[in-house]
Amino acid sequence: MGSVLAGLIPQSFINDLIDRADIVDVVGSRIALKKSGKNYSGLCPFHDEKSPSFSVSPDKQFFHCFGCQESGSALTFLMKYERMEFVEAVETLAKDLGLTVPREKSNRNYVEVDQRIFQALEKAERVYKQRLRGMPVAVDYLKGRGLTGVTARDFGIGYAPEGWHSLSEVLLDEDVSAEVMLKAGLTIKNDSGRVYDRFRHRIMFPIRDVRGRVIGFGGRKLGDEEGPKYLNSPETPVFAKNQELYGLYEARKALRSIDRLLVVEGYMDVVALAQRGFRNAVATLGTATGEAHYQKLYRYTDEVVCCFDGDKAGRAAAWRALESALPVLNEHRQLKFVFLPDGEDPDSLVRDQGAEAFSEFLQNATPGIEYLFNKLGEGLDLQSLDGRARFMGLANPYVEKIPAGILQELVRKRVREIGGMDTGTIRPARSESKPRMSVPDDGEFGPVLAQRLIGMLLKAPNLWSELDKSTQAELLARHKELGVLGRLVSLLDTQPESDTNEILIAWPDEGEQKRLIELAKKPMASSAQAWRQEFLDGSAHLLRQRERSKRQQHIAELKALGEEDKLRDLLPSKSRLGDNLS
Ligand code: UTP
Ligand code: MN
Repeated sequence: MGSVLAGLIPQSFINDLIDRADIVDVVGSRIALKKSGKNYSGLCPFHDEKSPSFSVSPDKQFFHCFGCQESGSALTFLMKYERMEFVEAVETLAKDLGLTVPREKSNRNYVEVDQRIFQALEKAERVYKQRLRGMPVAVDYLKGRGLTGVTARDFGIGYAPEGWHSLSEVLLDEDVSAEVMLKAGLTIKNDSGRVYDRFRHRIMFPIRDVRGRVIGFGGRKLGDEEGPKYLNSPETPVFAKNQELYGLYEARKALRSIDRLLVVEGYMDVVALAQRGFRNAVATLGTATGEAHYQKLYRYTDEVVCCFDGDKAGRAAAWRALESALPVLNEHRQLKFVFLPDGEDPDSLVRDQGAEAFSEFLQNATPGIEYLFNKLGEGLDLQSLDGRARFMGLANPYVEKIPAGILQELVRKRVREIGGMDTGTIRPARSESKPRMSVPDDGEFGPVLAQRLIGMLLKAPNLWSELDKSTQAELLARHKELGVLGRLVSLLDTQPESDTNEILIAWPDEGEQKRLIELAKKPMASSAQAWRQEFLDGSAHLLRQRERSKRQQHIAELKALGEEDKLRDLLPSKSRLGDNLS
């Protein structure tokens, strides 16, 4: 990234970059800032000081230190603070905003954001707000939902009038071109080329970027008219749904510092919570909470609490939300989940049960990692070796999603504890056996676990007679699919008095015999006293593994045959052997 490239970045892009970037973001993600009045202040990173004289202005998009007189834009800050070259700072800022720095060759692909789009949206907001006042039906609707005029004003709530061109006619008079209105998503062009207002007879929620500029709208219908309950602006050059959060600007404006942000599902939830004193709620815009949302949220707070409906859809959404949050988590960033009673959302809850009740839900929020573990452990018997092993197998991919660092290590450690792989476990393993998971299948000798079982039986053939009848029966019933282990148990069943040498000498296959001799000589990690339990656990695990892979194969076959409806019969049933063990 040499500065030779500097001349190749179009100036228009750089202007736009400074325009789009939020300096409070850029500075605030690097040094601690506190809100003071309209601005933010902190200890100046460019000189030594004990009391803050460093100030950042979101309005002017400028920083200034009254102590050492350093000042500049977001780009200058990056260059000074990170000691970056100009081009590097441009690249960094662009990356944060999800933009690709255009090079000379791709100049034509880069379209500078049309400032007129922002202007059109701002004008539309004003029109909607004015129209609300003259529309008793809309005012009554909001009152009926318990909103006060103050809240409506704080959020700039408005009303989009009826009629196909009510808004566009006003905007045309104000010199907003039809082309810009279309680009801003305020109008729609249908297939026959007719252009009309997108939002008609709806309550309008302006969506702002963190700098407070209107970038889009959400519109709710007032009654049971036709059409979707909520209509949102389309993706436009200034509105990317996977990045933006409704209410974030308002939260930052209302709060000095944001201890935590609440993620809720709807516009009305944000607004209703704000009115009840929870000024820290934000909502995604009809999309799932994705990684980019979390990146943004954690720039402004260290704690994110996701509130979901307790119903099935809510739980599914929570799980997806957790998955997308993992890649941005670290030990400084808390993530929690609140599940509201079925059928309630934050809006209905604070209205019916009051702010206190909602606070209580927040107090009892489930930490994200705990939620992860609970969910992964669902339906598993964590007292059994098998359950613990499966738990580890399920958990590992999620652990890998957490960035390398302290949090990941802590989570990894906890997974190992639950899996019984660490000393000082919270749930101590019931035996010393620790069969390795996902071992490669080794032909007739089976996986490493099978080889351990063979080794035990070879060294102590009387182990066989000590096993309970049902374990013996289960193994014998399935001896055909167990390769060498299966043949060994059949042999011991007919000749229980055999000793190690007798077994080895009489073994019919020469190649297998060699391997068996090796296995018999191989030292075992555990002592013979522990073998009975280890053998019980291990064989149960092995049989269930077989059963599972058989079932999976069967499912695959049924699916291939298009006979999915038969799958119900294949749902896991508890193995008899498993019952004996637990
Ligand atoms: P909900 O259907 O849960 O509605 O949509 P809500 O927030 O409780 O709304 P009220 O209380 O009935 O007014 C949650 C969010 O999903 C998006 C909106 O962002 C909404 O706030 N949504 C919902 C849409 O985009 N379109 C729809 O038709 C419905
Ligand atoms: Mn609702």
